[in-house]
Amino acid sequence: MGLEVIILAAGKGTRMHSELPKVLHKVAGKPMLSHVINCAKKLSPDAIHVVIGHGAELVKSELSEEKINWCLQKEQLGTGHAVQQALLNIDDQQNVLILYGDVPLLTADTLKALIDELANNQLVLLSAKLNDPTGYGRIVRKNKKIQCIVEQKDADKKTLKVNEINSGILTSNASKLKHWLSKTNNKNAQKEFYLTDCIELAVNDKDKVEAIVCESEEEILGVNNKQHLAYVERVFQSQMANQLMLNGVTLIDPTRIDVRGNLSTGKDVEIDINSLFIGENVLGDGVTIGSNAVIINSQINAGTRIHANCHIENANIGEKCELGPFARIRPETVLAENVKVGNFVEIKKANVKRGSKISHLSYIGDSDLGKDVNIGAGTITCNYDGANKHRTIIGDNVFVGSDTQFIAPVTIGDGATIGAGSTITKDSPEQKLTLARSKQITIDSWQRPKKNK
Ligand code: UD1
Ligand code: CA
Repeated sequence: MGLEVIILAAGKGTRMHSELPKVLHKVAGKPMLSHVINCAKKLSPDAIHVVIGHGAELVKSELSEEKINWCLQKEQLGTGHAVQQALLNIDDQQNVLILYGDVPLLTADTLKALIDELANNQLVLLSAKLNDPTGYGRIVRKNKKIQCIVEQKDADKKTLKVNEINSGILTSNASKLKHWLSKTNNKNAQKEFYLTDCIELAVNDKDKVEAIVCESEEEILGVNNKQHLAYVERVFQSQMANQLMLNGVTLIDPTRIDVRGNLSTGKDVEIDINSLFIGENVLGDGVTIGSNAVIINSQINAGTRIHANCHIENANIGEKCELGPFARIRPETVLAENVKVGNFVEIKKANVKRGSKISHLSYIGDSDLGKDVNIGAGTITCNYDGANKHRTIIGDNVFVGSDTQFIAPVTIGDGATIGAGSTITKDSPEQKLTLARSKQITIDSWQRPKKNK
């Protein structure tokens, strides 16, 4: 018999005060539901069923790349009713694991322990002992044996004092769940069909019910409002930072780094404060990242130093480069080794070969630069004619004087020198000095205008 996962995600999330369905709110840049699905996938289940209701179409379209069996729960009549919708598509002999779309920090190891325990029981749930159990369903035990779960809203004073809570996560057999759920009713404070009522029904049937007590309180955190969301985000980020440090990365302050996606790192990487990494990023050996960097889907190769306040997106930065402070590297930029990009330089869709320098105040877009090119301060590639983009091709060893504009398309031959202040509209030959600016003149008779009295 195989395993199938049901993820409950139909609820509205009223306390989020948002148009967005709750499970689409993001942790580390990804919808909470994606985190839960990724965790479920690690168990290699036969199928993943997600119960949706509020914002169903939006949830489906946001996660359209996932292989999911979507189950619509038209009315949110409770967690038990939600599970029933998914069970319609699950064969009796299958085992079922129930997860919540708003509990994003859960780990596959915890779930494996839960599933293993099912070998000796008919129902296994994940509980936790909390200092403040307010809001959760309480696990009621007699002589240490689980009797039932009582929801906060249905609990008497004595039960409210119980600090062992229901995480909501449980595993059982499909036929058993179908049987118990068929016997539930909605005679409770919330007038809902509770999944949690299965526990008492199982006990009454003399089925074996066991709880695994989750060691980490954080894993079972459910997000109900924006405070919870922010807290879960911080927990996730601190786990990420710890993992980076265990991998050998030096973090100047592990509370001041955010990783939304995957960050792979070589040896002796050092990251200063307030850096943000989005998407798939790779940092080679010995890379240093200055403070306030934003790095998106980029590869930064060994020995490169990124100074403070750089923004780098969809770029490949070669070995031993030096960037910034205040450099902006835009998509489809490829820098070879030993390239230097200084402050207030923007580069887009450009290939820059080894040893070239663009040190100050420049825009290099849609360009190919050869080896050992020196671009003077204030150089601009005028790549856009208002309708189309054109390329600027600059050969090896070209020296470009400050404040030059290249009106693309234009090609500059190897070894050429461009005089400062030039507006280059035509191809410029190799090894020659080319300049395009009006001659300096002095007008002897000229006088400054004076203010009228
Ligand atoms: C539930 C548990 C409670 C547990 C807590 C843990 C029940 C009755 N109670 O309470 O014991 O301590 O979770 O966080 O199960 N959902 C649907 N359809 C519905 C109702 C809910 O899909 O008709 C989904 C929600 O989207 C959510 C999950 O089920 O992902 C939990 O629902 P919620 O209303 O938040 O349950 P709690 O009151 O928190
Ligand atoms: Ca909840």
